[in-house]
Amino acid sequence: MAKKKTELSEDKKIPEHVAIIMDGNGRWAKKRFLPRSAGHSAGSRTVEQICDDAWSLGIKYLTVYAFSTENWKRPESEVATLMDLLRKYMKNCLERSRKNNMRVRVIGDITRLDEDLRESIKELTHESSANTGLCFTVALNYGGRDEIVRAVRKILEDRDTGKITAADISEDVISGYLDTSDMPDPDLVIRTSGEIRLSNFLPWQSAYSELYFTDVLWPDFDKKELIKAIEWYNGRDRRYGG
Ligand code: IPE
Ligand code: IPE
Ligand code: MG
Repeated sequence: MAKKKTELSEDKKIPEHVAIIMDGNGRWAKKRFLPRSAGHSAGSRTVEQICDDAWSLGIKYLTVYAFSTENWKRPESEVATLMDLLRKYMKNCLERSRKNNMRVRVIGDITRLDEDLRESIKELTHESSANTGLCFTVALNYGGRDEIVRAVRKILEDRDTGKITAADISEDVISGYLDTSDMPDPDLVIRTSGEIRLSNFLPWQSAYSELYFTDVLWPDFDKKELIKAIEWYNGRDRRYGG
């Protein structure tokens, strides 16, 4: 049997920013005759492991899609399960960020989340802000179109107060109004579970990202799969139109 590959060869180019659409928790559970909530729990354990794996491979920024602006359309009970899991996750994440030195941030419109969850996000973001390890970003109630709508509102507010004029608008200025303003664009976007779409994840930022799709369901995604994605990335020729 071939040995599992758990390290990358030295000559490989490591993407600075990897963004992941963590999909397939429901199907993972279904295959095992388990409730969807079991798939979401398993998926949240995968996130924890992948943060450490990403850092050990030399990735500096990891962004994960945890809950989309469209996910509110799911049955109320599933939304409640996901929110409870996120609550637990944020608490755990605070502990972990103390141990592994990662800086944690949240993108998306968190104003729609319950107050206690917003508070733990604030605490986590604040407490980990000076950490120098992996820059880990969780997209929570995130939608790329919603992000652009919120950015346009802020731009117009700044125009009202005279901070900005129409002539000032450039791609960089717009980037600066997005939730991701202080991060590089993702080099590699990974989506698990076989769907070939972005589902409103980082549409502005991924304009020139390499897109990797795998049939592996998110709870089964591991370091070996991440290495496969990076190896695939190394075969890409990024031309940026040149
Ligand atoms: C991804 O898994 C997690 C979230 C979207 C919150 P899904 O719940 O979408 O799993 P599938 O796509 O139904 O298998
Ligand atoms: C995308 O997955 C959102 C997250 C992974 C959080 P979905 O399962 O919600 O996407 P669609 O509905 O298949 O496009
Ligand atoms: Mg899905």
